[in-house]
Amino acid sequence: MAVSFIILAAGMGSRMNSDTPKVLHHVGAAPLLHHALTAARALEPSRIVVVTGHEAAQVAKSAEAFDPSVECVLQEPQLGTAHAVDMAAPLLADFAGDVIVLYGDTPFIRPETLQAMRDARAHHSVVVLGFEAKDPGRYGRLVVSGDDLERIVEYKDSTDEERLITLCNSGVLCASAKLIFELISKVENDNEAQEYYLTDLPALARAQGLSAGVVTCDESETLGVNTRQQLAEAEAAFQSRARSDALENGVTLTAPETVFFALDTHIGRDAIIGPNVIFGTAVTIESGAEIKGFCHLEGCHVSRGATVGPFARLRPGAELAEDVHVGNFVEIKNAILDEGVKVGHLTYIGDADIGEFTNIGAGTVTCNYDGVMKHRTKIGKRAFIGSSTMLVAPVIVGNDALTASGSVITENVPDEALALGRAEQVNKPGLATKLMARLKSIKAAKGSS
Ligand code: UD1
Ligand code: CA
Repeated sequence: MAVSFIILAAGMGSRMNSDTPKVLHHVGAAPLLHHALTAARALEPSRIVVVTGHEAAQVAKSAEAFDPSVECVLQEPQLGTAHAVDMAAPLLADFAGDVIVLYGDTPFIRPETLQAMRDARAHHSVVVLGFEAKDPGRYGRLVVSGDDLERIVEYKDSTDEERLITLCNSGVLCASAKLIFELISKVENDNEAQEYYLTDLPALARAQGLSAGVVTCDESETLGVNTRQQLAEAEAAFQSRARSDALENGVTLTAPETVFFALDTHIGRDAIIGPNVIFGTAVTIESGAEIKGFCHLEGCHVSRGATVGPFARLRPGAELAEDVHVGNFVEIKNAILDEGVKVGHLTYIGDADIGEFTNIGAGTVTCNYDGVMKHRTKIGKRAFIGSSTMLVAPVIVGNDALTASGSVITENVPDEALALGRAEQVNKPGLATKLMARLKSIKAAKGSS
């Protein structure tokens, strides 16, 4: 059966003490909202609807940046979680499948858990995701009898006895679209908070002779972010999960606790990641590549057999083909390095195309920016760029060409040519010792005065 998602993201998140809406705060270099969207997308849903409210335009923009097919609806004012879900009714009331409700501020729900909820729909009309809380605090409590969920009671509305229950509501709920909207139309706000609670749905379902049930998950999956403290905890939890996932997928991490991942980092089997490596967004490392210590990577692709670092920086658009070597203190941005290219030391390559097996000497700079516009440098195959060459773009260096060390290359270099772009050297016999003697006598004269 088809599934769609409703992700609630209208709340202000006042406890974050921030001008940024809560769901746009980052964990793993991605907005919290993208974590929920990633989990949802893993189930290949028909539709995903995000309910926006506080700073709706910003939240919608971020949702659409993640995936343009995500739809957004506005909830204004915010009258509770059932009211929020109801905002999606115009889009989903006729949807002939299940709907799963997620929160935008709860980044760790696993796709497997969502799948387990869908499977549990074979036995229950409404399925709620619960967890055994170490400290149940102010969570809603699940009142169960046997396999059935009788009702959910919100903390504010609970009795002392109900507060002893440790099985808590995560907020994630699954039912057919038809039933969800039918039941929501019956929800009232006669509770402590005077809100329309989504948590009324299980009891309403049972009142019409349908059954409700619980799927449980580990508490770590339901960690929600309400404060900066919890945001920091969420980051730590994300990194710890990303590290164990990488190890499990056959990636070597020499010092796992010093490596930082982003939500969309992809690393192939048998890649080796040294200590103190930071992955920003959109990095793909293929199988068998090696990233040595102290590298910073973002928006780049490193192919099989390539080695990077130590102390290298790959910026957005860096594309390293197989067996490329990028060494220490090298920065690469918006550049394609074909197979076997070597850039060993102290070099900036920006806005460039470099042909296979070309060698770039130490201290080379692509001078890509004239203060107003960026220009491209093109270097052919098997070229040899001498140390400390300044390549003033736009410029083309041909196949098998060579530039002399220290050259400033402002003109194109034809295939197989040697380009010398530096002042000619003049040797003055004996002048070194004469000069030194003169400087020493000046110093001595100053000292005696
Ligand atoms: C909710 C549950 C509670 C559960 C807890 C888990 C209800 C009534 N209670 O309580 O049982 O234990 O989550 O964290 O559902 N939102 C909207 N529009 C609204 C209200 C909320 O979009 O009108 C969004 C919020 O932005 C947030 C989510 O829904 O992402 C949950 O709302 P929140 O007010 O935080 O609910 P809790 O009191 O935490
Ligand atoms: Ca909350």
